[in-house]
Amino acid sequence: MNVLVLGSGGREHAIAWKISQSSRCDRLFCMPGNPGTAQIATNIKGSANDFEAVRKAVLDNGIQLVVAGPEEPLVLGIRDFFVSDEQLKDVLFVGPCRKGAMLEGSKNFAKEFMNKYGIPTARYRSFSKETLHEGEKFLESLKAPYVLKADGLAAGKGVLIIDSLEEARRELGNMLSGKFGKAGSTVVIEEYLSGIELSVFILTDGEDYLLLPEAKDYKRIGEHDTGLNTGGMGSVSPVPFADASFMKKVEERIVKPTVGALKKEGMDYRGFIFIGLMNCGGDPYVIEYNVRMGDPETESVMTRIDSDFLGHLCAAAKGSLKGEKIEIADNFALTVVAVSGGYPGTYGKGYRITGSENIFSCRAEGNVRIFHAGTAMEGEDIVTSGGRVLTVTVNGNSIEQCRKAAYEEMEKVCFKDICFRRDIGMDLLQ
Ligand code: AMP
Ligand code: GLY
Repeated sequence: MNVLVLGSGGREHAIAWKISQSSRCDRLFCMPGNPGTAQIATNIKGSANDFEAVRKAVLDNGIQLVVAGPEEPLVLGIRDFFVSDEQLKDVLFVGPCRKGAMLEGSKNFAKEFMNKYGIPTARYRSFSKETLHEGEKFLESLKAPYVLKADGLAAGKGVLIIDSLEEARRELGNMLSGKFGKAGSTVVIEEYLSGIELSVFILTDGEDYLLLPEAKDYKRIGEHDTGLNTGGMGSVSPVPFADASFMKKVEERIVKPTVGALKKEGMDYRGFIFIGLMNCGGDPYVIEYNVRMGDPETESVMTRIDSDFLGHLCAAAKGSLKGEKIEIADNFALTVVAVSGGYPGTYGKGYRITGSENIFSCRAEGNVRIFHAGTAMEGEDIVTSGGRVLTVTVNGNSIEQCRKAAYEEMEKVCFKDICFRRDIGMDLLQ
């Protein structure tokens, strides 16, 4: 079959890489893709948010399955666009409809959903400009630190965790008067959860689900979790504290009620759910839902799936996941992200990337891979084109072994101002 992956990051490179190994995959396309995906697929120019351009790409190339990588086209309603189009309605599509995508598109919607179905999450209330005063009162009733969340999509910057009550009050006022534009016209204030975070991923057809490998993400720019939040500086899978008994709680208290609730709400949800969890003293609480895979978790997760991932995607899109089994390798995966110096603030672009042959090919075999994120072609050269440039992803029998191989590979990669965290996985060493 012919497959189209929408998006252009490391997540999409990893998904495309996994799909490319399936014997069912005839032709693979990415839109817009990156120089990494170009090594295994045909890149099509255009944005995943431009539905007419996606429509043309699908019809021109006889695409039978579309996989949405990022959340934005989903929140904008690309799935609904497919369903309502006479020529696209039978194309298999992995990604929820607009209503389902609200689980990520609106924090308030997600919190109401969790409360309605008894899914464990932090206590919260939502406020608008009109109820600013009540919001301030609610802040006073909580203990520090204070968690303020812009309701809508804010490019990963909409969550503030603040130590002082005075500053929290001030930020609430700023958010409600337009700091995050429309995304902040409603603000969710919630209780601070103290614990260790974990990313859990499922692929669902709205009735049944497959549990993909879980992962830990390293969000801060600085070593030992210091400095600004980023999209993610590394990941590890599996996560040692997510043992069978903890994961059983996750499935029983969170995954099953979530999938059941989607059904009760009449959402035809076919796609990924990324559940950001906090392990609070052995009990899981949902921090957030995302309607896509995580990045850079996906790079680690994909390398641990042994079964036919394209088969799983088709089953999810068709609604036939019942009985489908996923095979997960009994190994570890570790991903280190190389960013351009200055990220997540301002950074330069257009720097030539050299040093490892893995930049030019991402093979099925072997244990060391490079997935591209913010890269571009300049003539024959691959150059940097974003803050998160590429990932080194390694498999091994232990986190220690993965760390050694990942950093050996990372030391080979060269571009101006390269920056990466050297402590990925260190906290998980036994
Ligand atoms: P979100 O965009 O909702 O994932 O939030 C970004 C990050 O803020 C999360 O990954 C957590 O590290 C942190 N966070 C969000 N909500 C809470 C909470 N209620 N308690 C503690 N940390 C939180
Ligand atoms: N790594 C976290 C995310 O993709 O949102």
